[in-house]
Amino acid sequence: MAETVEIFEVGPRDGLQNEKRQIPTVDKVALVDCLSGAGFRRIEVASFVSPKWVPQMADSADVLAGIARAPGVRYAALTPNLRGFEGAVAAKADEVAVFGSASEGFSKANINATIEESLERFAPVMEAAKTVGLPVRGYVSCVTDCPYDGPVAPSDVARVAARLFEMGCYEVSLGDTIGQGTPESIDAMLRAVCQAVPADRLAGHYHDTGGRALENIEASLARGLRVFDAAVGGLGGCPYAPGAAGNVATEAVHDCLTALGYATGLDRAVLDMAADMARAMRTG
Ligand code: HMG
Ligand code: MG
Repeated sequence: MAETVEIFEVGPRDGLQNEKRQIPTVDKVALVDCLSGAGFRRIEVASFVSPKWVPQMADSADVLAGIARAPGVRYAALTPNLRGFEGAVAAKADEVAVFGSASEGFSKANINATIEESLERFAPVMEAAKTVGLPVRGYVSCVTDCPYDGPVAPSDVARVAARLFEMGCYEVSLGDTIGQGTPESIDAMLRAVCQAVPADRLAGHYHDTGGRALENIEASLARGLRVFDAAVGGLGGCPYAPGAAGNVATEAVHDCLTALGYATGLDRAVLDMAADMARAMRTG
């Protein structure tokens, strides 16, 4: 039987947060509902951040209230601080994520905090999540390159990933935020990170700006990673990472993994439908 590799769908959050126009809530709900039928176990659909920073995610509670929750699917939300966490709990998110950076420049631009300050801010979120029994995922951005600071040392990524894991994140997702990673830089980064966090607690989150995301996934598979974030239709970018193109497309990752002999558990026909919806939103 083929080994399973999980794709964590992030399009409704990482994708739509970056669209210039405000996508109607009803369209977001329709996209999530379509994705719910594709076989994903986890879909990131919301982000409880400041609406002044990311206005596109201001309707996150309405999206969570509007979707038809499919059994066996966990609907996830980003929560930068305790206030965001409280919003996510009230909206009945099934899991939340804190997001930090391996580089100081991006940390400041994205969440207005140094790396150390951000980790301090996450501590009460971890505590509160433990109290209510909600799983917390951790993101590390800029794992190879930062739009402000340039190349990022693998040891810096390992340090932040280890801190998130020690704080209680059940999985740490490693973000090539601006899609500049190469199989060589990803491999060097993972060599360091895997010494601090077990490979089966890591995920690869690769943007495709440089067109090498699929090769980077292959390099990560060789290092033992079995979870990859992707966005249907290649939606996405990051409002605080100039030049970041979309996340690697879910359907491309599915095809790549299938060709390599892995099972994703996803229905390709449903993915195609969702990708069409995503592309229609993108062109507006
Ligand atoms: P701040 O300005 O330093 O903090 O922002 P603040 O506490 O002074 O708050 C500023 C305003 O936001 C205040 O409102 C707060 O009440 C409000 P005002 O008094 O001005 O009217 N506020 C909130 N509102 C709603 N929900 C909240 C919340 N918190 C404060 N949770 C903060 C700090 C973190 C809030 C801000 O920097 C922020 O929201 N940043 C989010 C940036 C973001 O969402 N970026 C994209 C997601 S990360 C990403 O895409 C990367 C990833 O995909 C991985 C990868 O690719 O690398 C995950
Ligand atoms: Mg991202």
